[in-house]
Amino acid sequence: MKPKVFIARPVPKEIEDYIAEYCEVETWSSTETIPRSELLKAVQSVEGLLITGGRIDEELLEHAPHLKIVSNISVGYNNFDLEAMKRRGVIGTHTPYVLDDSVADLVLGLMLSCARRIPELDQYVKQGQWQRGDDEVLFGLDVHHATLGIIGMGRIGEAIAKRARFGFDMDVIYTNRSRKFEAEQALGVRYQPMEDLLKQSDFIVLMTPLTPETTRLIGKEQFSLMKDSAIFINVSRGQNVDEQALIEALASGQIRAAGLDVFENEPVAADSPLLKMPQVVTLPHIGSATAKTRMDMARVAAENLVKGVKGETPPYIVKELS
Ligand code: DGY
Repeated sequence: MKPKVFIARPVPKEIEDYIAEYCEVETWSSTETIPRSELLKAVQSVEGLLITGGRIDEELLEHAPHLKIVSNISVGYNNFDLEAMKRRGVIGTHTPYVLDDSVADLVLGLMLSCARRIPELDQYVKQGQWQRGDDEVLFGLDVHHATLGIIGMGRIGEAIAKRARFGFDMDVIYTNRSRKFEAEQALGVRYQPMEDLLKQSDFIVLMTPLTPETTRLIGKEQFSLMKDSAIFINVSRGQNVDEQALIEALASGQIRAAGLDVFENEPVAADSPLLKMPQVVTLPHIGSATAKTRMDMARVAAENLVKGVKGETPPYIVKELS
């Protein structure tokens, strides 16, 4: 008998077909996020769950006595209650590597968008405000040769550093739990303690996973150390930042601009002050959202799932559970 799995979000047909070769599959095929109550019902008899972002906690595990593996279609796994999963011997997997370059590309896009005010000036032109003779009113900041500070030098941090160093001749500094000597050698990046990084950087890119230690890592105190010309970019998780402190830092001119792909609550509330600020570029959490990358992520997640329910070792078990 094939093991039962639940696919909690739509995936490409070929991915579903691949899983169905090895498993009995049930799917949630609506593009609306599956309601929690439906998810709790759906996991009752399954051994495997394929999901993005739904909370895997004590309550869900209680409803899923046969569950062996939760396969996330994402690199982030802050939706996992790692302790609860460990207690019940449930494996959790994710999809590293395949999205690094797409996310890094987007970070550079946000840096350029904020520095050269691309979305704001696009609106300026489209709304007919462009006058012959406009000059200083259109000025932005240079990206090339500026100092980039990366907080969280993992694989994606390194992909950003590579683009910044070799594409834009930037001076790249970083902070991280541990020194990255290989990256320092290969990319010519320099380690700095957080406080120094915040003071020196023209661009600050937050790229840490969301953990209890990184929750609200950047708040009032950190913004107060930044240059008033600093551009802050977050493509990690919204909860890594104290969003109210960010709003205040932007509104008071403590920092110049922000590029945000992620928010404390998603989708961000339509009345958030961030959406009214021309110096803030906002995106709907699209770090990995290219057709190829999303397909690669789904494929890796499906392989993790199938291996997990077959009792084999999936390639990308999250490190805390391996
Ligand atoms: C991830 O994979 O965790 C990203 O946030 C998706 O864009």
